[in-house]
Amino acid sequence: MIEIKHLYKRYGRFLALNDFNLKVNEGELFGFVGSNGAGKTTTMRICVGLLKADGGEVLIDGEKMLRNHRKLAEKVGYVPDYFGVYKSLTASEYLHFFASAYGIYGSDADRLTDELLDLVNLSHKKDTDVNGLSRGMKQRLCLARGMVHNPDILFLDEPASGLDPKARFELKEILKNLSAMGKTIIISSHILPELAEMCTSVGIIDKGHLVLQGSIEEIHRAAAMSSPLNLVVNEEQIDDVFAILQSNPFVQKVTARGNILQIVFTGSKDDEGRMLASLIRANILVSSFYREEGSLESLFMQIVGNNTKEAAKRR
Ligand SMILES: Nc1ncnc2c1ncn2[C@@H]1O[C@H](COP(=O)(O)OP(=O)(O)OP(=O)(O)O)[C@@H](O)[C@H]1O
Ligand SMILES: [Mg+2]
Repeated sequence: MIEIKHLYKRYGRFLALNDFNLKVNEGELFGFVGSNGAGKTTTMRICVGLLKADGGEVLIDGEKMLRNHRKLAEKVGYVPDYFGVYKSLTASEYLHFFASAYGIYGSDADRLTDELLDLVNLSHKKDTDVNGLSRGMKQRLCLARGMVHNPDILFLDEPASGLDPKARFELKEILKNLSAMGKTIIISSHILPELAEMCTSVGIIDKGHLVLQGSIEEIHRAAAMSSPLNLVVNEEQIDDVFAILQSNPFVQKVTARGNILQIVFTGSKDDEGRMLASLIRANILVSSFYREEGSLESLFMQIVGNNTKEAAKRR
C-alpha cells in the first residue's frame, strides 16, 4: 500500500502541492486525474524520488520513503510523460542499457529484455531503432523500461495522451496484465472518462489538493448525481418556475438559457418526481425534464471547472 501524507511542494512562491493526501491499496489500478497544472507530475516525481518535497511523507507498506532513496528506487517504477531521444539504439539495446543501470548484465539481461518486450507486445520490433518506433510503441517501450527492476508500484504519467484508440486499447490490455501480476499502478490523465474505463479507483486533484477519491462504482454514482437536471418550460412562466424551484430545498443552483433551465439537484429520484409534480400542480407547461448525459465529464467540470480562471491567474 502506498500512502501520501500532507505533501507540500513550492516552486518559488507558488504552492504546487497543498496538503496533498492519498492512499492507494496494493493491486489497484488507480486513475489520477486533474487539469493541466493541477500537480499530477509534481506528485509523481516526488513519489519516485526525482523531486524533493517541502513537507510531508510518502509511505510504502507503512515505511517512510522520502529519506530512503535506495529502497524507494527498488519499490517504484516511473514512466514519464516524455520520451528522451536515444540515437542509434535499438529497442533491445535500449532495455539492455536500463538493465545495466540496475546491475543486470549478460544472459540475465537478454532474458529480461525478451520478457519485457513480450510483455509490451514489441518482440517484433526488437531490432528496430527506437527513433523508428511509433508514438504508441515508444510509450510501450517506456513502460517496459519502467519495469526493468520489477517494481511493486508503477507510476505512469499521461501514458495514453496522443495515442489512437487501437494503441490505447493495447495499453489498457498491458496495464490489466500488469495489474493481474499484482502490481499497483498509478496512472495520470486530464480526462476522467478515459481513466474510468480502465481503473479500479480514481482520485481527482485540483490546485495541488486531492478533492475526491473513490472506487470506480462510487465515482460513477457521484457522476450520475452531479449532472444537472434540464427543464424546458413555457418562456412566459419562467418567473413562476424560478419561484417554485427556489423554494425546493434540494435545488442548489438554477441557470437559464432561454426557456431551458439547468438545475443542480441534490435530492433522490422521488424528490425529483415531487419537484416535477409541484410544477405541474402550479400549471407550469413542462415540455421536457431530463438529466444531462456525459456525466463523468460534468462531475469533473463541477469539481474543477469553477477554478479554471483562478488557476490561470495563479500560473
Ligand atoms: N519546475 C517548475 N518551476 C516552476 N513551476 C513549476 C515547475 N514545475 C511545475 N510547476 C508548476 O506547478 C504546477 C503543477 O505542475 P504539474 O506539472 O505538477 O501539473 P500537472 O498536473 O502534471 O499538469 P499537466 O496536466 O499539464 O501535465 C503548475 O502550475 C506548474 O506551472
Ligand atoms: Mg503533468
